[in-house]
Amino acid sequence: MADVTLITGSTLGGTEYVAEMLAEKLEAAGFSTELLHGPELDELSTEGTWLVVTSTHGAGDLPDNLQPLFDAIKDNQPDLSRVRYGAVGIGNREYDTFCGAIDKMDNLLTACGAKRLGDRLDIDVLEHEIPEDPAEVWIESWKLLLN
Ligand SMILES: Cc1cc2nc3c(=O)[nH]c(=O)nc-3n(C[C@H](O)[C@H](O)[C@H](O)COP(=O)(O)O)c2cc1C
Repeated sequence: MADVTLITGSTLGGTEYVAEMLAEKLEAAGFSTELLHGPELDELSTEGTWLVVTSTHGAGDLPDNLQPLFDAIKDNQPDLSRVRYGAVGIGNREYDTFCGAIDKMDNLLTACGAKRLGDRLDIDVLEHEIPEDPAEVWIESWKLLLN
């Protein structure tokens, strides 16, 4: 099992680049990583460390590739008490539902017993044309929580 399993939700792929950069930074710090774009629930180990990175679409909705995982967790209510996770959202603050997707995932994972590590990062693409920039700063402190 990898030290950190990165789980992405994306429509046009921008979020996947952010997750790839985060995985590279974690690897450089000595952690093994696994990067899963819109995984099924049974692809995930329900223990260990997850890093969920997702954009928001529709009106506060999850990207189509992450919605099945969200639905599976909601329907099956797995015991996630041995999961700790980080949360990164990417969205546009012009929407009332800014970063609604990571908000939903964050609440659902907590409701299933998972513990969030550190603060959530919500990236506004209006403020940060290159969303990797704030993510790169955030991962420096997040990775310190992993040991
Ligand atoms: C049709 C559409 C709907 C969107 N809805 C939201 C939203 O409700 N909340 C939000 O924060 N961002 C919203 N966004 C902004 C996207 O999350 C943002 O552009 C993000 O960078 C897309 O990343 P992706 O290519 O990885 O999916 C929307 C974008 C589009 C095109």
